[in-house]
Amino acid sequence: MDTEAVSAADFAACLADLEKVNRLTLAARPTLAFLARLTAGWPRGTELRLLDAGSGQGEMLRQIHRFATRRGLVPRLTGVDLNPHAAAAARAATPAGMAIDWVTADIFDLRGVPAPHVITSALFAHHLDDAGVVRFLRWMEETASHGWFVNDLHRHWFAHHGFALLAAAMRWHRFVRHDGPLSVARAFVAADWARLLGEAGVQGARVTWHLPFRLCVARIRR
Ligand SMILES: C[S@@+](CC[C@H](N)C(=O)[O-])C[C@H]1O[C@@H](n2cnc3c(N)ncnc32)[C@H](O)[C@@H]1O
Repeated sequence: MDTEAVSAADFAACLADLEKVNRLTLAARPTLAFLARLTAGWPRGTELRLLDAGSGQGEMLRQIHRFATRRGLVPRLTGVDLNPHAAAAARAATPAGMAIDWVTADIFDLRGVPAPHVITSALFAHHLDDAGVVRFLRWMEETASHGWFVNDLHRHWFAHHGFALLAAAMRWHRFVRHDGPLSVARAFVAADWARLLGEAGVQGARVTWHLPFRLCVARIRR
């Protein structure tokens, strides 16, 4: 999917299936738990300015919007994705009245969005090479005033084979069937994050494992 020229229809179908994978694997849970910790004690009516990197079809941001609204916060959410088909798919999947900005840009060339309290990403970091991850960590550290959260996969043989079987059984889009196991292979173990955080010079981040096979990195500034 990163390397082929993909039509809008294929990209949208692929993102729609990815959303099913995310729902089935409770992908939003660690991100929402992190946000609950980060915003604990924030008075009702406070703005939550949050930017999601590599937002795809945007389901994480819709869940964050519902989370913030339930807590009485005022969500100001921006999804950024390099692929122009992503913004179109995200807009189509977002209910009218749920205000989320969908921006087409390379996250590293982003200009003119409101300074975020928080930066999140899901299944994005493994698209970057090591130098890109280090750059991403430094950029989040410089850009997010309150903290950031990386939600990604744990590189593990069971996740690799288990996903391949599940995707075939569910007849998900061929890109999802192909890219899922590849994503697991390109993902992380805890030692990778320790090394990458060290290279980026980031201190105070926590690496946590979440069922099933999510490895996340959380940073909250106190
Ligand atoms: C696997 S998808 C994840 C989508 C969504 N976050 C999710 O969890 O389903 C990764 C997304 O990152 C986007 N992406 C890759 N490199 C990017 C970059 N440098 N800047 C912004 N988006 C990027 C891709 O276009 C793709 O939509």
